Amino acid sequence: MRCYLHAFLLCVLFTFFSLLYVFNQLASTLEDRDDWELKEQGTPDRSSHDGGHLLRKMPGLTGLRDREGLDRERAGSAVKEHNDGRSHLAVVACGPRLEETLTMLKSAVLLSKNPLHFYIFAEDDLHDSFRNALDSWPRTVQTKFNFTIYPITFPKENAREWKKLFKPCASQRLFLPLILKEVDSLLYVDTDILFLQPVEDIWALLSQFNSSQLAAMAPEHEEPRIGWYNRFARHPYYGKTGINSGVMLMNMTRLREKFFQNDMTTVALRWEEILMPLLQKYKLNITWGDQDLLNIIFHHNPESLFVFPCQWNYRPDHCIYGSNCQQAEQEGVFILHGNRGVYHDDKQPAFRAVYEAIQKYPFGENMETSLLRPLEASLQTTTNTYCGRASHLFTKKLKQSIMSVQQEVTRRR
Ligand SMILES: *[C@@H]1O[C@H](CO)[C@@H](O)[C@H](O)[C@H]1NC(C)=O
Ligand SMILES: *[C@@H]1O[C@H](CO)[C@@H](O)[C@H](O)[C@H]1NC(C)=O
Ligand SMILES: *[C@@H]1O[C@H](CO)[C@@H](O)[C@H](O)[C@H]1NC(C)=O
Ligand SMILES: *[C@@H]1O[C@H](CO)[C@@H](O)[C@H](O)[C@H]1NC(C)=O
Repeated sequence: MRCYLHAFLLCVLFTFFSLLYVFNQLASTLEDRDDWELKEQGTPDRSSHDGGHLLRKMPGLTGLRDREGLDRERAGSAVKEHNDGRSHLAVVACGPRLEETLTMLKSAVLLSKNPLHFYIFAEDDLHDSFRNALDSWPRTVQTKFNFTIYPITFPKENAREWKKLFKPCASQRLFLPLILKEVDSLLYVDTDILFLQPVEDIWALLSQFNSSQLAAMAPEHEEPRIGWYNRFARHPYYGKTGINSGVMLMNMTRLREKFFQNDMTTVALRWEEILMPLLQKYKLNITWGDQDLLNIIFHHNPESLFVFPCQWNYRPDHCIYGSNCQQAEQEGVFILHGNRGVYHDDKQPAFRAVYEAIQKYPFGENMETSLLRPLEASLQTTTNTYCGRASHLFTKKLKQSIMSVQQEVTRRR
């Protein structure tokens, strides 16, 4: 009898452990499936600021908790920020892009009337420089914005692959909806963007989205004869000439909720599920990195994209062989995008002139006499180039923006 009982107990024990094992295996396969995205790190909790909150939901963004700046931002205040009158602006800065990024941010604060929040993703060695530079801006300017500095983070398992895609860090923007889980909407811009009108003007486009739209971008080209995607791409792309991701407005709440059609499975996939398979499938065929992935995604989900016209993302391509951005002809350039390094070389002096005028303008001086006039003068010297001949378009909107800010200043006095 004793013997039977013994055997029975052993059996029960064995079954129990077997079940435990099976469960364990099951749990870890489930976890593995999500591995490429964001894996648990098990860092101890330190929840004194909203980074803790963010991380409990987003484990595995290495080091995010330790270094996430939360500069000049109180605990929890970054949560649920839609329609609070602020514009939320994100940028990703790596390598020698510090000064360029600061000039972009400067153009944003100079012309905006509404408060701003900057989300600065940067390589670790740039964090102090960003913080010191922004903290050194005059008090009156600082009251217009808050900023948060983040390290560059990628899905752990495929960090190397994501990092080397296109330029280091560029594909970070794809993960912003997953990292900034608490943020409703975001304007992402490249570092080589300059605002020639208030940020709230582009922010206002969010309210023009219809119920299926969740992101807004400009076409990559106006003129198919010099378009890149329609002539060279070896992958699907959006519309006639593709889209440019240098200025990308996102309703991230919708982006996180949406199931995206795709050419890999018959089921629609969430944002965090679609990126890695897409990279795997197309990595040998893509040229412009994450911008190509965005083109593939919106090719299959065209109803989700709001296309804004070229004056919201005006590049050398729009004037290099003569002006081809019609909307800019009428209304002027709203946002300048000096891609291919044109702020720093002599290929497009008109673009460089705008960059240098904003960079050199001393805070607090009269913007009309210390920014606009010097800029107009230096643009006069660029009329030997096609873009220089179109350069009255560069100052058209800027002039209105400056007048409007000046009026605001006088009104307050
Ligand atoms: C910056 O954050 C502080 C503290 O949360 C807040 O009081 C202030 O209104 C914010 N400023 C802007 C411009 O958003
Ligand atoms: C990649 O490009 C090649 C050559 O144009 C093409 O045959 C192939 O189908 C493309 N691959 C994908 C996944 O589209
Ligand atoms: C983004 O979309 C969500 C869900 O549709 C909506 O509640 C929110 O107001 C939108 N945000 C903005 C800024 O329009
Ligand atoms: C929203 O606009 C896009 C682009 O015009 C269109 O394709 C889509 O069908 C629209 N969605 C709805 C729900 O009307």
